[in-house]
Amino acid sequence: MADATAREKPKTMNWSPSGPSLIVEGDNLAALCSLPDETFRLIYIDPPFNTGKAQVRHSLKTIRSATGSRLGFKGERYETVKGAKVAYDDTFEDYWSFLQPRLTEAWRLLTDDGTLYLHLDYREVHYAKVYLDSIFGSQCFLNEIIWAYDYGARARKKWPTKHDNILIYVKNPDNYIFNKHDVDSERYKTPGLAVEPSGRDFLPSDVWWHTIVSTMGKEKTGYPTQKPEGVLRRIIQASSKPGDWILDFFAGSGTTGAVAQALGRKFVLIDQNPASIATIKVRLSPHLRSSGDTQETVQFCASSSPERHLAG
Ligand SMILES: C[S@@+](CC[C@H](N)C(=O)[O-])C[C@H]1O[C@@H](n2cnc3c(N)ncnc32)[C@H](O)[C@@H]1O
Repeated sequence: MADATAREKPKTMNWSPSGPSLIVEGDNLAALCSLPDETFRLIYIDPPFNTGKAQVRHSLKTIRSATGSRLGFKGERYETVKGAKVAYDDTFEDYWSFLQPRLTEAWRLLTDDGTLYLHLDYREVHYAKVYLDSIFGSQCFLNEIIWAYDYGARARKKWPTKHDNILIYVKNPDNYIFNKHDVDSERYKTPGLAVEPSGRDFLPSDVWWHTIVSTMGKEKTGYPTQKPEGVLRRIIQASSKPGDWILDFFAGSGTTGAVAQALGRKFVLIDQNPASIATIKVRLSPHLRSSGDTQETVQFCASSSPERHLAG
């Protein structure tokens, strides 16, 4: 297996329908402009939320320590220490002049039966709805998913905000993929929630309870604002088929790629932060080319020049 963390000179981005999934390092607008029209059946994006602060996480690790506060196997003591810092900036002077051209590219890149999921929070979602109505048409608005969770700090002088918003638009309201029988009815983990029916015919509502990625859970990569695989699994199962191409151009820790890979879809992930690319390399390392392989399933590359792709 090639060293997943080694930093080698990346290839130039060269997408082809029968080629490998791509992980692209660079500004997403430049990369998007080089991709052909109507390529992706599903686009999921989770842009920075414009919180006005840097998003920072320290990875956590448990080490053996004579003075540690946690008691473990055979009476050994352990303590949890902070590891490396991973961060990206989440402050924009003009958030909408940043996001709008990228959303317009997303529309161009969707197949005629494709679906866009835009993951935001209460700060920007209302502006996003107005803008997406203008590029897709309000008849193409399918749903607003409320992803509700109940962890983390709680405000004391207003209602604690414990949800994100995911806007869903289809390119063609008369012809889009919605695999309601493939969606798992994964039980969401909020204590005290009334038991929902389960089984093949149970279609979850537009309010999704799902715990956040736990600091000690096995999904945790240490990348800030990592989203749970359960949320992405539901999206990918509902709005794509095995073999389809899926795009996430704010890839972060690579959750979309990890779930797409597990569900037999191909993907393009784009992020400009080297820490994101390093995290994705580790996360997807089982799928990287090993020295004996003739075919790569996943290829790392740099964004090509920002010239628009010319069909034909
Ligand atoms: C909210 S995080 C995505 C988290 C991801 N959904 C996950 O589960 O890990 C947003 C990401 O957008 C990236 N980003 C911000 N501006 C970008 C740009 N112009 N081009 C590419 N990536 C960008 C940041 O580096 C960050 O990794």
